[in-house]
Amino acid sequence: MATAYPSLELHDDDLVLTPETVTFLRNALGKDLTEEEITKILFEARSSAYKTMAFPCIRQFHFVSFFMQRNKIYPHIIEYAQKAPADKAPVVLDLGCCMGTDLRKLVQDGYPTNKTNTNVYGVDLLPDFVSEGYKLYRDGPETSTPTPIKFFADDIFTVPLTADGPIAEGTASSLKDLRGKIDILYAGALFHLFDEEKQFALAERLAVLINTKYSADRNNNEVIIFGRHIGSLEEKKAHRPSEFGGAFGHSPESWKELWETILSKQFGKDILKNTDIYVFKEDLIADSDNVFHKAWLWWSVTIRLPL
Ligand SMILES: C[S@@+](CC[C@H](N)C(=O)[O-])C[C@H]1O[C@@H](n2cnc3c(N)ncnc32)[C@H](O)[C@@H]1O
Repeated sequence: MATAYPSLELHDDDLVLTPETVTFLRNALGKDLTEEEITKILFEARSSAYKTMAFPCIRQFHFVSFFMQRNKIYPHIIEYAQKAPADKAPVVLDLGCCMGTDLRKLVQDGYPTNKTNTNVYGVDLLPDFVSEGYKLYRDGPETSTPTPIKFFADDIFTVPLTADGPIAEGTASSLKDLRGKIDILYAGALFHLFDEEKQFALAERLAVLINTKYSADRNNNEVIIFGRHIGSLEEKKAHRPSEFGGAFGHSPESWKELWETILSKQFGKDILKNTDIYVFKEDLIADSDNVFHKAWLWWSVTIRLPL
C-alpha cells in the first residue's frame, strides 16, 4: 500500500469543516478552539501524515470523516456496550484504524471503556498512522492525558488461521493475542484494497479474532462485525482496475455468501441460524471503462450468543 499512490498537490478546499467535526475536535482538544484554529490543526495533521503516507484518504481528510458512525448499526453498538456490567464492556477492535478518529469518536459518543482491562483497540499496518494520531489528538501514552484506547501496528495477514491455544490475558499488543477476544470488530475501507483471494483470507482472520463464547457474567449476547468498502452494484462479482492491479468488488449477494461460507467453516453451519447479515448498497458511478459499477457496501454481521 505504501508505494501505490503518487504524491499529489494538497488543496485547501479538500477540507469541508462540518459542525460535527468542530464539536468532536473541541471535545478532544479544547473547548475554546476557534474554527480557524481547528482548520490550522487539521491542515498541519494532513501535511505531517502525507509526508510518509501519500494516500487519498489523508489528502481528502477522510481521517476526520466519521465513516464508522454512518453505519446503520452504530447506535445499536453503543447501546449494547452501555448495557454491559460495569468494567465488562465488550472488546472492540477497529482494524485498519488509520489515525484512530473513528474510535476516539466512538468513545466520545459514549462507548464505555473498562477501568481494569483494556477493551478498545485500534490496529493499523502502518505505525506512522498510530503516531500521527497521537500527534493530532495529543493523547499518546507519554502525555498527561493518555487515551484509554490501545493502539498498535500489526498486519492482519500474520494472524494464524486458528483460535486454538490459550487466549492471551491482559492488554494485547499484537493481533495474534487478540484471537478469540473481540466482541465488536470494525473494518472500514479495508477489504477493497485486496483481490478476491485476499479478501477471503482477511474475512477468515476476522472470524478467528471474534469471541463467540457466551459468559453469563458479561452477558455478551452478541458479536458484531461491521464495515464499509467499495463493492459492485450488480448481482455479480466484478473486478475493478486499481493501483494494486485489480481489486475485487463483491456484490451484496456475494458478500453475504462469503460470510456464510466463512462462519460455517469456522463454527459449523448451525451458526447461520443465529446470524443476521445486512448489506446496504450505495450506488456510485461506473468506472469510465464500464467494467465495474461501483457501490459502497455498508454492512454488518451480527451473531447472537449463546450459540
Ligand atoms: C483506506 S484506509 C481506511 C481507513 C479507515 N478505516 C476508514 O474507514 O477511512 C485502509 C487502512 O487499512 C490499513 N491496512 C492495510 N492493510 C492492512 C493490513 N494488512 N493489516 C492491518 N491494516 C491494514 C491501511 O494502513 C489503512 O490505514
